[in-house]
Amino acid sequence: MPAYKSRIITFLKNREIKDVNGYLIISNGKIKKITKEKPECEIINYDDFIIMPGFVDSHIHLPQVNIRGKWSTSLLEWLEKYVFPEEIKFLNEDYAKKNSAKFFYGLAKNGTTSAMVFGPPNIESTEIAFEEAKRVGIRTFMGQTLMDTNVPEELKTTVRDAKKSMKSMVNHLDGKRAAYVLTLRFAPACSMEMMKETANTARKLNLRIQTHISEQQEEIELVKKMYGKSYAEVYDSAGVLTKRTVLAHGVHLSPREMDLIAKRNAKIAHCPSSNFFLHSGNMPITELMKRGIDIGIGTDVAAGPFMNLMPVLRDAYYANPITPRTAFNLLTSGGARVLGIDDYAGTLEPGKQGDFVVLKISDNSMSTNEILSELMFLGDDRNVMATYVDGKSIYMSEGI
Ligand code: GUN
Ligand code: ZN
Repeated sequence: MPAYKSRIITFLKNREIKDVNGYLIISNGKIKKITKEKPECEIINYDDFIIMPGFVDSHIHLPQVNIRGKWSTSLLEWLEKYVFPEEIKFLNEDYAKKNSAKFFYGLAKNGTTSAMVFGPPNIESTEIAFEEAKRVGIRTFMGQTLMDTNVPEELKTTVRDAKKSMKSMVNHLDGKRAAYVLTLRFAPACSMEMMKETANTARKLNLRIQTHISEQQEEIELVKKMYGKSYAEVYDSAGVLTKRTVLAHGVHLSPREMDLIAKRNAKIAHCPSSNFFLHSGNMPITELMKRGIDIGIGTDVAAGPFMNLMPVLRDAYYANPITPRTAFNLLTSGGARVLGIDDYAGTLEPGKQGDFVVLKISDNSMSTNEILSELMFLGDDRNVMATYVDGKSIYMSEGI
């Protein structure tokens, strides 16, 4: 039962923050307590650093790990030119294995402990990806990326195959460390039948759903042309909007669509770096928060160029002036709510799993706000000294 001596910062409900100089005691992978008194157990000294909850990436694409920073003029052009050809490569199981390992190791190195992941386009490579997630130790919520319309033939799945593979995957994952998420690429790439069948399966098996919504005007117009309704109404008519649904982007939602999302208690993954990269626009964070919609932060690799979530917080600030404490709150406890893991992860509190990150800062005597501000505006993977999931180290920097 080790204890980690450090300055420990955690973000709680209603924007509360705790900042304690003391000991984080871990027992059986869980947080036993945080105390100022020196405990009678092995002590690991992280005095020069700070500890905070592991980062939660609410939206990221595994088969895009190799195509970051590929400039293009619009979302739809970028998908055609870079994304689809690269995702086809993940049908090859050797390629999928090697690059899934690279992906999950990249998350660990960047302080991410939990992630909501769009997986490869086939079930075999998705299974391989889950094996690599387990080997590296990332808490992983992922599914095969489902598509059956408007994409290259190789990427398409039939509704029947998708249903079969969903069911086979669900049972052999523990649910807490790894869970299968029904992953619809987006309305332009999914038939109404596929969306409806997916939503039915989600309801029957109580599964999470993830998809994209309202990222760029051209895409929104395409959805309107295909289905004759607004984006949110299309998903709602298929039964896709549930309290376990995570919608990425939501940049151009109308007030009516936001009300509908709030009513269904669906969640939003805010991906500001991606929104800047593709010039998608600024997500109206205040409007969404006003409605009580849960918001997490997503890197959206590869439209988002950064695998590290600290530069994404910086971009969140440039998109909308939020305070560093709000930004880190959304990143950790907010992300956990979006992923539906807030009863056991996302904060450093007794009883929660030992998911935390050890970060280097310039000066340990700074105020809480100064520390968070420095990390938000200057932070990247070089600040990450160590990453722990369930109390076990999954990454250790050479600089430690
Ligand atoms: N919309 C549908 N697919 C994608 C994707 O892979 N990335 C982004 N940013 N948006 C999408
Ligand atoms: Zn995305």
